[in-house]
Amino acid sequence: MHKFLASKWTKAAVFLLCLGPLASIIWPFVRHYTIPDPLQFIQHGTGDWTLRFLVFTLAVTPLRQLLRLPELIRFRRMLGLFAFFYACLHFTTYLVFDKLFDLHEIWKDVYKRPFITLGFTAFLLLIPLAITSTAGWIRRLGGRRWRILHRAIYISAVCGVIHYYWLVKSAVIRPLFYAGLVGILLVWRVGEWFLRRRRTALANAVPQRAPINVSQ
Ligand code: HEM
Repeated sequence: MHKFLASKWTKAAVFLLCLGPLASIIWPFVRHYTIPDPLQFIQHGTGDWTLRFLVFTLAVTPLRQLLRLPELIRFRRMLGLFAFFYACLHFTTYLVFDKLFDLHEIWKDVYKRPFITLGFTAFLLLIPLAITSTAGWIRRLGGRRWRILHRAIYISAVCGVIHYYWLVKSAVIRPLFYAGLVGILLVWRVGEWFLRRRRTALANAVPQRAPINVSQ
């Protein structure tokens, strides 16, 4: 398994697999299938996959610890960038087909419709993460600052889930399912952080001994 995950072919295969959702969105148009509401079809497809890729990215660290597969880390950056890629498609659909580049209308939407405000926030938060995802940026920022910045992915995922929850009128099962997943992943990370801090505190604790009086 370790060898399989470390192979460059596996990485290439995962890359192709991540393009599958895009193909599934484009395919019905290529085949001229009847789609009752094409705009909604693309908006929902790209929105769903943005959220799924955010969850996949967040799941990498817990999975590599649970399954003892450190090689899984090789896929985290790619999955995160695919989340950003689908978010860009999602936003572009809204910008081009829904709002016809009318920036005033978009601003009104962001201001007046809470579910758009949160989707927009989730999207904006992903931009610095995508830009600083390279090894060069990790060096420039330093590991600690880079890790702190990249915790914003949790805020983005939470905003994405609420965005979804607020836009569905009654079918809340799916957004609640994502809320559960993001909640579990968040609790895992907080628990892990807490345990690490405790371990460090214990390791740093100097054993208290009574001073030896040599004159006695
Ligand atoms: C990380 C960012 C985002 C995530 C995770 C996300 C996620 C989603 C999801 C899951 C859906 C519903 C899909 C379904 O019903 O199957 C959706 C729909 C939608 N999203 Fe987003 N979204 C994000 C950003 C945005 C942004 C930036 C905008 C626009 C400014 C936006 C506008 C919309 C619209 C207009 C819909 C369709 C609403 C409707 O059908 O009435 N989203 N999004």
